[in-house]
Amino acid sequence: MNTLRGRTAAVTGAASGLGRAMALAFADEGMHLALADVDEKGLALTKEEIERKGVKASSTRVDVSRASDVDAFAASLKELHVVCNNAGVSPVGPLWENTTADWQWALGVNLWGVIHGVRAFVPRLVAQGEGHVVNTASVAGLISPPGMGEYQIYYAFSELWFDTPQDLWVAIGSDDQSQVWIEDHLIWKSSNAHKDWNAVEGFRKVHFKQGRNRVLVRLENGHGQGGFSFIVNLDPAFGPDPAK
Ligand SMILES: NC(=O)c1ccc[n+]([C@@H]2O[C@H](COP(=O)([O-])OP(=O)(O)OC[C@H]3O[C@@H](n4cnc5c(N)ncnc54)[C@H](O)[C@@H]3O)[C@@H](O)[C@H]2O)c1
Repeated sequence: MNTLRGRTAAVTGAASGLGRAMALAFADEGMHLALADVDEKGLALTKEEIERKGVKASSTRVDVSRASDVDAFAASLKELHVVCNNAGVSPVGPLWENTTADWQWALGVNLWGVIHGVRAFVPRLVAQGEGHVVNTASVAGLISPPGMGEYQIYYAFSELWFDTPQDLWVAIGSDDQSQVWIEDHLIWKSSNAHKDWNAVEGFRKVHFKQGRNRVLVRLENGHGQGGFSFIVNLDPAFGPDPAK
């Protein structure tokens, strides 16, 4: 797919935050938008703002945790080239205090919402021979801030997949003693405890092989409450500042 102008993107969770921002960015590229959310007021505001940019927008109340809602949304769209399964919720608090209803709600949106979106939309994109799917995830899959256990479970991933071998910069930050392994190679051992995990602590050029690359982040302090960020950047211009 080489052009966005005149194509249509479907975005869930478009009433606010990242979904709204993605929808506006697509509109700036000349794309039409099919907006979905449970928040109809917010959805109407996003739609208005998009229409002011001179592209077409539709808004549909869709609860992504319901297969029938997502199926009906997909079936209602004639043209479609980009799908963003973005709607999400962020439960917080100790795992043992989250009720069954909390789990069902969050699993319904964050996990089943993406499953329904992939199932409902991808066969259409495959059949038309082009299209893109963006499933919003979270760095919470790689870090372990206390009180976010229920949130993290949806995004836990421990492998990266590349179609071709790549040498890429990895930025790492940690607020505690930690190690990062890619397959059997230790690529990072954090030296300073109690740093701000939002800050980049260092960079490594890492060779990723073709196919699956297992990533293991190990917190060494034993209490398992260190924060950690691990960012792989595909932009060749990214890397440590040569002046430093
Ligand atoms: N904001 C961050 O820092 C951050 C970081 C990492 C990942 N994320 C992920 O990005 C995604 C968007 O988050 P955000 O920060 O923009 O949050 P947000 O709360 O601003 O937006 C989420 C939207 O999803 C909608 N939504 C909730 N339940 C829904 C449902 N059942 N069906 C349809 N829509 C529903 C909400 O109404 C809201 O408009 C989420 O998946 C979130 O987990 C956010």
